[in-house]
Amino acid sequence: MIRIGLVGCGHIGTVHAVALQQLTDAGLVDARLTATFDDDPGRAAKVARHQGGEPYDTLGGLLDEVDAVWVCTWTAAHLAAVEAAADRGLPIFCEKPLAPDLDTATSVAAALERVPHQVGLVLRWAPVFRNLADAVASGEYGRVLAAVMRDDQYFPVQGLYGSTWRGDERLAGGGTVIEHSIHDVDVLRWTLGDPVEVSARTASRFGYPGIEDTAAATFAFADGSVAQLTSVWHQVLSRESSRRLEVFCEKALLWTDDDYLGPLHVETDDGERLIESEPPGWSSSFTLPAVYAKALAQYAEPSKAFLDSLSRVETRAGPQASAVGHPRAADALSAHRLVDLVYRSAADGGAPKSVR
Ligand SMILES: NC(=O)c1ccc[n+]([C@@H]2O[C@H](COP(=O)([O-])OP(=O)(O)OC[C@H]3O[C@@H](n4cnc5c(N)ncnc54)[C@H](O)[C@@H]3O)[C@@H](O)[C@H]2O)c1
Repeated sequence: MIRIGLVGCGHIGTVHAVALQQLTDAGLVDARLTATFDDDPGRAAKVARHQGGEPYDTLGGLLDEVDAVWVCTWTAAHLAAVEAAADRGLPIFCEKPLAPDLDTATSVAAALERVPHQVGLVLRWAPVFRNLADAVASGEYGRVLAAVMRDDQYFPVQGLYGSTWRGDERLAGGGTVIEHSIHDVDVLRWTLGDPVEVSARTASRFGYPGIEDTAAATFAFADGSVAQLTSVWHQVLSRESSRRLEVFCEKALLWTDDDYLGPLHVETDDGERLIESEPPGWSSSFTLPAVYAKALAQYAEPSKAFLDSLSRVETRAGPQASAVGHPRAADALSAHRLVDLVYRSAADGGAPKSVR
């Protein structure tokens, strides 16, 4: 059995802990949450009490007693936890963004590459985006002409998130682009490939220096296609997190306004068809109301896949590390490079920046 240590027991750490608990209790993984650690000991104790495991006073104490680590601290603390776990050869699931800035993200990625790892760019596992990526890659609808992604949520220092660190540039690295839309940048480059040029405008309107709440970015591709990203943190507290993506191909418009199950709408000359998706069948064995089970499956599926792949490898580090986990540090680092260019362009009045 794989003993899992959770480092960072806040919002997403708790979501992962519940997902892991449900997977374990349903007999779906050969793993169990056995240890928790948080700078705030009360949080580590609370997760341990409700989702299982023993709370530890130190990171080192936890790392001594586990076989794999989930790093769910706020963004600026990922590097220290990832390096400490990688030094011990432990497999690591690391939340996104890797770090507040590109240089530090490069260091986090380098440490992750030394061990089996996976990054929490969870949209890679969303059936609606998998269907979209497959449809675009099939070539059935011709070349991509343009894509429009809109991502919005309420300014997340309140409500469900209630996290003061998201208003602190040193801890978060920025606002809506790095903290939320790094997911979107990842989906865009996964679906459309890497752009050759990035230009962007950002604004901070709510009094948090360095934390942009409004951003518009344009990604230009070598074949002449373009993608636009509008990313907003507003004060509409009833809108927790919402995404809409439209991809215009030569012979179809593909779009969705749900970032997990879709449906994906495909409109062609023949009319509109819907590609529907279901959560994994095994999530029906979760002991949660159906609406929560569905939401949790979004996080449980990538965790289960990572744990299943860990069960199959014999060594914890070394050459086999490169075969385990999806998406990987390299994917995240590529998204970080584009996010960095968004910020560089915005700081330069929207001037285009080349992707090297
Ligand atoms: N993939 C996703 O969908 C998703 C969703 C939400 C958050 N996230 C990411 O997860 C991370 C955490 O976000 P959150 O919403 O859970 O924040 P949070 O504030 O709710 O929790 C962060 C926790 O980290 C703890 N912490 C800080 N420094 C620490 C350290 N050095 N050692 C141990 N614990 C430490 C804090 O005490 C806090 O409990 C961020 O990087 C965020 O971007 C990802």
